Amino acid sequence: MQTDLLKQAADIYGTPLYVYDLPFIIKRITSLKDLFFDLDFRIAYAMKANFNRDLLKTLNNFGLMIDVVSYGEYLHARSIGFAPDRIIVNGNCKKVDQLKTYVNNGVFSINLDSYEELLRLEKIIDSQTNISIRVNPDVDAKTHPHISTGLKENKFGVDFDTAAAMIRRIEKNKYLKLIGFHCHIGSQITEIQPYLEAITSLIDFIEKTGIEIEILNLGGGWGIDYGDGKFLDLNEYRNKILPLLKKTMKTVIFELGRWITAPAGYLISKVEYVKKTRYKIFVVVDTGMTHLIRPALYGAKHKIIPLYPSNDRKMIVADIVGPACESSDVLRKEYKLPEPAEGELITICDVGAYGFAMASEYNLIPKPIEVIWDGEKFIKSS
Ligand SMILES: Cc1ncc(COP(=O)(O)O)c(C=O)c1O
Repeated sequence: MQTDLLKQAADIYGTPLYVYDLPFIIKRITSLKDLFFDLDFRIAYAMKANFNRDLLKTLNNFGLMIDVVSYGEYLHARSIGFAPDRIIVNGNCKKVDQLKTYVNNGVFSINLDSYEELLRLEKIIDSQTNISIRVNPDVDAKTHPHISTGLKENKFGVDFDTAAAMIRRIEKNKYLKLIGFHCHIGSQITEIQPYLEAITSLIDFIEKTGIEIEILNLGGGWGIDYGDGKFLDLNEYRNKILPLLKKTMKTVIFELGRWITAPAGYLISKVEYVKKTRYKIFVVVDTGMTHLIRPALYGAKHKIIPLYPSNDRKMIVADIVGPACESSDVLRKEYKLPEPAEGELITICDVGAYGFAMASEYNLIPKPIEVIWDGEKFIKSS
């Protein structure tokens, strides 16, 4: 997005401010339809990445499905207008009453996370219900341990033996219809190999059991380039994985969050102080870990761009830090940038996923405003 537009947004709404570039998101979705034109697939947006209402309304209008991982997300999806038959329910802790609601409303699929969840569902079920089994293929996604979900020590899904036992139970239940399998091995995955391993083992399992299903939900996790040049190469994905998927003749679901919205998000912030100590320079800005926790939580590195004239400025190396009372409130450590002056603006890039969605009011620092750029004007989110 052009820096002039970002400055304009900050002039109107002040800082700190999240801006989402809607045309970018739409282009992203269209490009996927173009790339996989010969595959029977659907996109389910992973709401956890960004639950902004206006953004979700657009995705709903585009006919996307939605992945929810909590009852709160389910209610949010319904309030936005997602029909139950476009809602996929994930999560490892579905409560009894919540399961009853999903059954009564006829969601697209309840993705079972455990054998125990199947037993719970059997006790309450009294009408036809679509379910899937989340398998854990024990594959190293080669991503940050906090966002790896497909290893046997991770809490998600079941191993193939347990999945086989679940299938045997499900076949005996007149209300349960096993429509597919779900496999999400992690987030910000930048190599094809883990997908190849996971998908191959899932397809082998399906062939061995001979079970008739319609859906292969391959989760999300597609890595984007945060500035280090590493990202999931979708052409490679097409070349290496598409042939496997096409052979199965199943409908594929890509359950994407980060890949769709992360690069469309900007967090604009004002420089409050340039604090110089004997040891370091700190650029103190009016946003930080309470608005964007990824750097503190995962050591994530986001690009930070000055929104001030920088040609004539001396370059400095500084820690860019926020206002929270935590030493981990550092957006970038030892970052090279043109020396800013008090009151000037910077923007943090690629924050459209797991940004505002993970924000808190720790220290009673208010959350930022969010605005959408719709291609013509800014719309403030309610
Ligand atoms: C079950 C499930 N599906 C999809 C996603 C989306 O992942 P990503 O944002 O990496 O595409 C996640 C995120 O962790 C998830 O837990």
